[in-house]
Amino acid sequence: MSSSVFQVAVIKGDGIGIDVTDAALHIVEVALEKAGNTALEFLPIQAGAGYFKETGQDIEPGGEEAAGRADAIFLGAIGLPSVRQKDGTEISPHLRLREKFNLYAGVRPARAYPNAPQRLADPRAAEIDMVILRESTEGLFYSAAVHNRCPVDTGDEVQELLRITRTTTEKLHDFAFKLAQKRQERRGKSKVTCVDKANVFRSMAFFRKIFDERSVRFPEIEKGYNYVDAQALDFIRKPWEFDVLVMENMFGDILSDLAGGLVGGMGMAACGEIGDNHGLFQPAHGSAPDIMGQDKANPLAAILSGALMLDYLADKASNDTLALAAKIIDDAIYHGFATKRIRPQEFGGDMGTKAITREVINLIRG
Ligand SMILES: NC(=O)c1ccc[n+]([C@@H]2O[C@H](COP(=O)([O-])OP(=O)(O)OC[C@H]3O[C@@H](n4cnc5c(N)ncnc54)[C@H](O)[C@@H]3O)[C@@H](O)[C@H]2O)c1
Repeated sequence: MSSSVFQVAVIKGDGIGIDVTDAALHIVEVALEKAGNTALEFLPIQAGAGYFKETGQDIEPGGEEAAGRADAIFLGAIGLPSVRQKDGTEISPHLRLREKFNLYAGVRPARAYPNAPQRLADPRAAEIDMVILRESTEGLFYSAAVHNRCPVDTGDEVQELLRITRTTTEKLHDFAFKLAQKRQERRGKSKVTCVDKANVFRSMAFFRKIFDERSVRFPEIEKGYNYVDAQALDFIRKPWEFDVLVMENMFGDILSDLAGGLVGGMGMAACGEIGDNHGLFQPAHGSAPDIMGQDKANPLAAILSGALMLDYLADKASNDTLALAAKIIDDAIYHGFATKRIRPQEFGGDMGTKAITREVINLIRG
């Protein structure tokens, strides 16, 4: 990643994935223009349920390799409940991409924006600002259908595997502590909470043991522990107390949706999936067939994922312009909520996908 033109592989996918990707990439370009013009080149790749229906393939030939050569991958949303494999599961090539590129660190921020709905009555809910770090290649997704690794499936019984490895877990916990260090610059303090079920599962006790081992390298970062069931309770009782939370794949899948719900809904849930050499960025929501084609989707999760992508590229290439562009997007959205210039239909407002996109552009251009 030495050139000043960065290549982004773009998989728009299905349903609202297409609209929110267009919105996000447009905003990324406008923010880069404002920050000082580091160029991005977008490489479209066909994939998803619609593509599968037409061709019988879930991604175009050579698509995975092309995505692997790009500096980053941006994905809208993949899947339509009406299009399925013979075994009844949905079309999900992005699970394969996660594994192929070893995207172990799933970064899912949840931040309260002013005037966006707060689901909790306690006024401290306005202070929610946390990141769920979801391990994304193993855990209970190790035998997910797409990987074809189900150890027992007799017709009378199905067993699945939960896998925790030292190699991935060490990298995951290091990622969590480094993320906390980065957030410390903005927040003044930082904490990593290890969320597990170490009281019951050997694999989870192992996960926590590695957390303790790695934490000694980051003495300035406070550490904490929570069992996953208690964490669900604490997300309702006192979510404002948490900063970075690191956890196994399925726990992160569930708790990140809960965290997203606390600060509005899926339309605000950004996501980065990061490995040692690749990064994939996508809104955490799906293709939302119930609202597709109606200009109702909130594009902010995708736009915020675009900012995460810029931040990732900035770190990889030590490029301040990209970091500035990411901050420009974050600040524009925060300011837009604070001044009520952003009013998503998802939250009972009057703005659909196009109107929000236009307003974010106005906010950036000032
Ligand atoms: N990463 C992905 O590509 C991904 C993630 C989750 C689901 N899916 C797929 O998407 C399809 C639909 O799944 P689902 O209905 O369970 O989840 P979903 O996230 O698509 O929708 C859940 C609910 O949230 C709403 N919603 C989601 N995103 C929104 C947005 N940006 N703005 C406003 N409202 C929004 C929807 O209208 C719906 O009511 C399925 O085929 C599923 O497999 C894909």
